Amino acid sequence: MGGDSGLRNLSYIKIFNVGSRYLVNRVQDHIQSRIVYYLMNIHVTPRSIYLCRHGESELNLVGRIGGDSGLSSRGAKFASALGVYMRGQCITDLKVWTSHMKRTIQTAEALGVQYEQWKALNEIDAGVCEDMTYEEIQQNYPGEFALRDQDKYRYRYPKGESYEDLVQRLEPVIMELERQENVLVICHQAVMRCLLAYFLNKSADELPYLKCPLHTVLKLTPVAYGCKVESVFLNVEAVNTHRDKPESETGQTQRCVITNKMLLHAED
Ligand code: G3H
Repeated sequence: MGGDSGLRNLSYIKIFNVGSRYLVNRVQDHIQSRIVYYLMNIHVTPRSIYLCRHGESELNLVGRIGGDSGLSSRGAKFASALGVYMRGQCITDLKVWTSHMKRTIQTAEALGVQYEQWKALNEIDAGVCEDMTYEEIQQNYPGEFALRDQDKYRYRYPKGESYEDLVQRLEPVIMELERQENVLVICHQAVMRCLLAYFLNKSADELPYLKCPLHTVLKLTPVAYGCKVESVFLNVEAVNTHRDKPESETGQTQRCVITNKMLLHAED
């Protein structure tokens, strides 16, 4: 037995010359075929992925999450500043992607170039909490509010989505980002966190708290074994929509849960 003959019964993919030829042997299940698809789509051509959120929206101004509002006047200024910044990058083959939401489309329109809309890039669906402020959610759904703070990655809004759902929804976007070269993705806070977590290898616990401020472009340039990140604030003020993990409250909630469990056992 010589050469590859001993490998005949094994599942493997052999990549020649950084992807100029592939040998795929005995792909036996869904996961293996996904891995093959992934490996056949990644490349090492130098490029950058630019991630940013839409310009500040009318709902951002009043602290409401979700919805589908247009840009505030500062949001529109950011959109023009983004055009100037991207033109300064001198990229001839730039792809621009947006979600289906007004605020990302209005941001892309100001660039004056062709763009592609992806429904998969839409903001996390906050279900019954859409259009509410965090204070209103806490007042109307105190239990839900506390649960989200306990496990923000897995928490699913009633009739809405979790970050975990969002990561699944974004899989085709990520696969396509791997295939493409220079891309500007104009998206939303939760979506940008998921994309950033993928490229920077962040854990599920860190992901929902990654800082993705408005009016700031993150330029990701793949390098050996990682990604170089440049954060560029485009000098247009905006509201801060980031909500930190409330350390002490979470501790209290967790203690409550543990105490309730102990009570349940005591009653058994
Ligand atoms: O709900 C919309 C926000 O952009 C996501 O923010 O997950 O920190 O609440 P959050």
